[in-house]
Amino acid sequence: MAKVTVKDLDVKGKHVIVRVDFNVPHKDGKITDDNRIRAALPTINYLTEHGAKVLLLSHLGKIKTEEDKAKNDMSIVATRLAELQSAPVKFVNATRGPELEEAVKEQKDGSIVLMQNTRYEKGETKNDPELGKYWASLGDLFVEDAFGSVHRAHASTVGIPTYLPSALGFLVEKEVNVLGKALNDPQRPFVAILGGAKVSDKIGVIENLLKIADKVLIGGGMSYTFSAAVGGKIGDSLLEADKEDLAREFLEKGKGKLFLPVDTVEANAFDNATDVKVVKAGEVDDGYQGLDIGPETVKLFQKELEGAKTVFWNGPMGVFEKPEYAKGTEAICETLANLDGATTIIGGGDSASAAKNLGFADKFSHISTGGGASLEYMEGKELPGIAVIKEK
Ligand code: 3PG
Repeated sequence: MAKVTVKDLDVKGKHVIVRVDFNVPHKDGKITDDNRIRAALPTINYLTEHGAKVLLLSHLGKIKTEEDKAKNDMSIVATRLAELQSAPVKFVNATRGPELEEAVKEQKDGSIVLMQNTRYEKGETKNDPELGKYWASLGDLFVEDAFGSVHRAHASTVGIPTYLPSALGFLVEKEVNVLGKALNDPQRPFVAILGGAKVSDKIGVIENLLKIADKVLIGGGMSYTFSAAVGGKIGDSLLEADKEDLAREFLEKGKGKLFLPVDTVEANAFDNATDVKVVKAGEVDDGYQGLDIGPETVKLFQKELEGAKTVFWNGPMGVFEKPEYAKGTEAICETLANLDGATTIIGGGDSASAAKNLGFADKFSHISTGGGASLEYMEGKELPGIAVIKEK
């Protein structure tokens, strides 16, 4: 069964609340990557072109203090949104009250109101029913298009659609189609590449992908916990000692399909290292730490990727923010970008940034706009922001 989508709604002349994910990186009042705003445009344009009065809601950043509020003012997004499409955009510096209500009431068909950051309201992350009901009172219909936030059961993602006829937007529909195909009906061989610092962040996804994928390649900081689990020497590398048993369990379950690095780039300090060299995995010197996969691992992973028809990649292979430890991540990114005939999917976050920074973004079949959301999706979890939307 398929979920109701924006195309199933009669939106002409209606007030349509759209939850988008405009949680974009920004510095000194400037947006440094507007991809999430661009990704929401198909839904926004469809609605304005079909005569809807659009009210956009999103969070920006994590809000704990008044200072966080000042740093995460949604007005910077309004400016960029107005540049990226042609409908008039009015920014309302409020999350409730007369100014917001008037702005919505005065809206013409085909216009956009962007509300201030949803997380200015304490009840947002608690899914406060009063808040969800209040926001719902501003619209006739609701569209869920914030894929990056559908794993959050918040007032704007789950509260509002409990009170209004609701649908998925084009972005969520596309993400679910691509990730859902990889998860439920992948073209094989299906290879998953997982990296990042901690095993604890990836337990669910490793578990599920070991069941579904034909091969699981593990790199990044978490590979040292696996190495330690089989008695390897890892020096001062990242270790989650309490996850060694779990790592052993994964190695047992994943026999024949789980691949670990065979060499590592070790350094005698994280910052300003004076000695950086390649050693075999499990042979990291005392006083050194592993910070990237080595060249033999790149070759091994390249070999295991040959002929893959579906690839899901999440998490860098090393400390890629530092050029001296970015080679492994870059090599894997380049290999995937040039993999012929494969559906290549990046599960958001750091790996998505790596692909963009390296200029390979358009060479992937799909770069998810959700980091946490795409991981939870690949864990096979039901995501609350999607679950709340009815089947047709
Ligand atoms: C993200 O950037 O992953 C989403 O916007 C969710 O943000 P959050 O982790 O602050 O809920």
